[in-house]
Amino acid sequence: MEGREVLVVLLLGLLLGLAGSSPPPSPVACTRGTSDCMVTNVYGSFPDRTICRAVNATFPRTEQELVAAVAAAAAVKRKVKAATKHSHSFPKLACPGGRDGTIISTERLNRTVSVDAASGLMTVESGMVLKDLIQAAAAAGLALPHSPYWYGLTIGGLLATGAHGSSLWGKGSAVHEYVVGMRIVTPAPASQGFAVVRELAVGDPDLDAVKVSLGVLGVVSQVTFKLQPMFKRSVTFEKRDDTDFAAQAAVWGNLHEFGDMAWLPRQGKVIYRTDARVPVSTPGNGLNDYLGFRANPTLALITARASEEHLEEDGSDIARCLAARLPPSLFELQGYGFTNDGSFFTGYPVVGFQNRIQASGTCISSKEDGLLSSCTWDPRIRGPFFYQSGFSIAVSKAPAYIAEMQKLRDLNPRAFCGLDAKLGVLLRYVKASSAYLGKSEDSLDFDVTYYRSYTEGEPRSHADVIDEIEQLALKKYGAVPHWGKNRNFVFDGAIAKYPKAAEFLKVKARYDPDGIFSSEWSDQVLGISGSPNVVGKGCAIEGLCVCSDDSHCAPEKGLFCRPGQLFADARVCSTRPAASGLRDEL
Ligand SMILES: Cc1cc2nc3c(=O)[nH]c(=O)nc-3n(C[C@H](O)[C@H](O)[C@H](O)COP(=O)(O)OP(=O)(O)OC[C@H]3O[C@@H](n4cnc5c(N)ncnc54)[C@H](O)[C@@H]3O)c2cc1C
Ligand SMILES: *[C@@H]1O[C@H](CO)[C@@H](O)[C@H](O)[C@H]1NC(C)=O
Ligand SMILES: *[C@@H]1O[C@H](CO)[C@@H](O)[C@H](O)[C@H]1NC(C)=O
Repeated sequence: MEGREVLVVLLLGLLLGLAGSSPPPSPVACTRGTSDCMVTNVYGSFPDRTICRAVNATFPRTEQELVAAVAAAAAVKRKVKAATKHSHSFPKLACPGGRDGTIISTERLNRTVSVDAASGLMTVESGMVLKDLIQAAAAAGLALPHSPYWYGLTIGGLLATGAHGSSLWGKGSAVHEYVVGMRIVTPAPASQGFAVVRELAVGDPDLDAVKVSLGVLGVVSQVTFKLQPMFKRSVTFEKRDDTDFAAQAAVWGNLHEFGDMAWLPRQGKVIYRTDARVPVSTPGNGLNDYLGFRANPTLALITARASEEHLEEDGSDIARCLAARLPPSLFELQGYGFTNDGSFFTGYPVVGFQNRIQASGTCISSKEDGLLSSCTWDPRIRGPFFYQSGFSIAVSKAPAYIAEMQKLRDLNPRAFCGLDAKLGVLLRYVKASSAYLGKSEDSLDFDVTYYRSYTEGEPRSHADVIDEIEQLALKKYGAVPHWGKNRNFVFDGAIAKYPKAAEFLKVKARYDPDGIFSSEWSDQVLGISGSPNVVGKGCAIEGLCVCSDDSHCAPEKGLFCRPGQLFADARVCSTRPAASGLRDEL
């Protein structure tokens, strides 16, 4: 089957809106009861493709059991990590340090502790999935004003990685801005029973460390949010030319409370999201059931992947670019999965209550159907497999960055078809935060999704342009990575861009002096020891390094380490000859 037909099959599956689907597998799999465990993420693969092991796992149901679990690890200085129900972070965050670490799963810590409609205060346990928080808050007439777009994340996990939606209004789009209290279990001296609960309220400077903690301070037990009365919003997507995209990016976030943008570089289009609050009396009971987060039939996922691999390995640019036109147009035709009444899409604007619009993810929540259908990225199926890079740039610098990306696109438009095929580059606003590991400036976040091979070290077509736009962002525009996304090299030197990193590390030294919540990965990322780069043969192909030698690419396949086409300081794996007239490394 050709790419187009396969995608039609896949998208027909989406159109049929299959009823049942299998929820994602647990990221913690133990072979003997709760011992001998393997830990992974929801894609079944960390960026370095290594397997993470833990000697055992506990599944506390109460704060008391959680304290006991932390105490047991602290008493013998055993490495420990919190794992969540699904583990959606790409990087190796969920992996405990060493070889005999232990896992504390928050899967069963998923209750609402209290909710008070009058004050808007809601306290939940940290393992609660965002979907359940949104529902429970709505039942009390309350709304979390901003959140990630995917509701399969847990509260503990999304806070730890600084997750966000899109807004510059009010406190902005990061969920941690709405936190007013936290309870965290940390190691303690023997005299205190090896573990204590620390209660943090607004005004406590430690809260700025604990809100976005990368999981290295202890296990968050409960979180208190200040919510807002339920409101309605009105959403319109409009596709326009990308000629004034750079200028629009500077203002869009100020014009629309929930505004975002998706750039289709090859098509030269931007899908602008106009999205703002409207009076609750405005008619409409719209629903966001985003197509990309619905369950897909297994057969369609396998066929779609097979066709993608075929195009990747043997296809021409023309074939790839033709296939890349289909997903954006089918999504557009179906209103991206939005409906005006929960059943039918009849046109924009879609008006609905916040809890029905802010996030979606129906593929996580249906009953087991024996894997007849699942989330697109389910690792039990040889379906789509991809990388996702996420980095933010100060809003003030974003227009210049966008203009440079457009220039690179103009040099070789077909190299950007792979991004169109993944529905483009998503741009979202995040406000400056007092959280030590939050954004230090008002920022624009760029999410870039692209093909990943199942075969380690297998080159991707036009990987050099993705690498160049990432390095351009990181090196020239001071971009910082999303803690829960990206490939290794993106984190190299990242911590130096956080003015309050030292404050964070001071809190860490107080809360976890023996570093039992530290892992090799967190030490590398926090600049405590080692580098997130894994330098070796072919490392740049996998995003484990920036190449500095041809061997980091795949010289045997004609890929050599070269400067970027536009950004001379970039080093990318390219088929371009060395003497291309551009400045080369001497
Ligand atoms: C389909 C999809 C859509 C996404 N959409 C968005 C989006 O719109 N916006 C966005 O910002 N991000 C988004 N993400 C990325 C996402 O934010 C991160 O991957 C996410 O924050 C991880 O949450 P999790 O609950 O899966 O945590 P995990 O990945 O399991 O854990 C992350 C870290 O938090 C730690 N941790 C978890 N719970 C606790 C706790 N109770 N106490 C202490 N530490 C803890 C873990 O140890 C780990 O270090 C998306 C990811 C996917 C897969
Ligand atoms: C995990 O394994 C270690 C080492 O065998 C042991 O000391 C500890 O009690 C175990 N913990 C649990 C919860 O099984
Ligand atoms: C908590 O998790 C359990 C088991 O994972 C589930 O049965 C239950 O419905 C969840 N509770 C809430 C409030 O989400």
